[in-house]
Amino acid sequence: MTPDEPTRTAGEQEALALDAADPGHRDLFDVPPAAGGPYPQVAYFAGNSLGLRPKATPAELLADLDAWAELGVEGHLEADRPWLPYHELLTGPAARLVGALPSETVVMNSLTVNLHLLMVSFYRPAAERYRIVIEDSAFPSDSYAVRSQARFHGHDPDDAVVRLTPRDGEDCLRTADVIARLDEEVALVLLGGVNYLTGELMDIPAITAAGHEAGAVVGWDLAHAAGNVPLCLHDWEVDFAAWCSYKYLNSGPGALAGAFVHQRHLGDARLPRFEGWWSTEAATRFEMAAESRPPESADAWQVSNPPIFSMSPVRTSLELFDQVGIGVLRERSARLTAYLERLLGGITPGRPLRVITPADPERRGAQLSLRIAGPAGAGEVAKRLRYEYGVVADTREPDVLRLAPVPLYSSYHDCWRAVTALAEVVPKSAGVNA
Ligand SMILES: Cc1ncc(COP(=O)(O)O)c(C=O)c1O
Repeated sequence: MTPDEPTRTAGEQEALALDAADPGHRDLFDVPPAAGGPYPQVAYFAGNSLGLRPKATPAELLADLDAWAELGVEGHLEADRPWLPYHELLTGPAARLVGALPSETVVMNSLTVNLHLLMVSFYRPAAERYRIVIEDSAFPSDSYAVRSQARFHGHDPDDAVVRLTPRDGEDCLRTADVIARLDEEVALVLLGGVNYLTGELMDIPAITAAGHEAGAVVGWDLAHAAGNVPLCLHDWEVDFAAWCSYKYLNSGPGALAGAFVHQRHLGDARLPRFEGWWSTEAATRFEMAAESRPPESADAWQVSNPPIFSMSPVRTSLELFDQVGIGVLRERSARLTAYLERLLGGITPGRPLRVITPADPERRGAQLSLRIAGPAGAGEVAKRLRYEYGVVADTREPDVLRLAPVPLYSSYHDCWRAVTALAEVVPKSAGVNA
């Protein structure tokens, strides 16, 4: 980190001092070069979209690839990490990350596919109870998934899918308002644990309990929660959940996803599931029986044999989370996000910028979203941040800029760079509240 100018402002000096005192684990990651600005590396704030590559990933992946070269098909049993049970290497660390039993957890497929496979089991509409509750700001894939599930069961999705909106003038949902919408017509509640747009961390235990009270099944999309905030899916009695591994879990674009099914549903023969040869118990899989014998674990939701070279980066990343610990990361995350929030508070007055993420640290993870009013569209702002300042943020059309200070690798200096750049890219404008 060597700025061109030799003199540093007091603000920059403060950021560097905070980094010295609270360094995180940036050294374990490859930080891309900057496309502009005075610093060699980007200030990366898009880890809630695609996390950075751990330095250990290529060598670990290469070792798995070499086993293929050296052993061919025998690698299934004879590789140092044999491929047949390879997915089990991911189960323990993934379970620890989401507060689940290993038997409740499996890494497989991608997120939306897992949501569909889980809804096959857990969206069982009846004549009077058929609605699915989601957030109006659900990620579109979830929206399409639940609409297609409703249609699959013969319902009109416009009728079956209930979309929760915040109160007028508010950006986030209130827990009490969510709970108030859960009635005897709701078959399934499927919400984002952390909302992708606003960064709001939902009250997962309270909403899960209220959903159960109303007689509904409660599932969670944890794409923005896994690896971001501590989770206790087993103790919270969540019915099912799924998450991807390419955001906070740093496992690469399109990386494999996780799935959770609560213990009380395991082995329930009444639950429909879509099956394939990986749905049957491993011990008798090669007896080539005509009927499956599903294990009493989340493995029963697997369908196909897993892609080993896609599992390798997930394994490497989960080992890292095991080493550092989500509790420690959450503490650094709170400090880093509070610092970013303080700096933003210094520039938003008089500018058409407004933080829409909850101010309460308990109701958010490692993300602050800003709504940008006026002519400077969020996309244009992000472009200038990247090419003129080397700050990588991401946008959600039309007007939201998302900044994710990721506790594993983001620095206080990154935060300082982002806010300093934002202040230059979005000028003060008349008529905006100071
Ligand atoms: C909240 C949320 N749900 C679902 C998805 C879709 O994930 P996938 O492409 O792995 O199905 C994403 C992707 O970013 C997401 O953020």
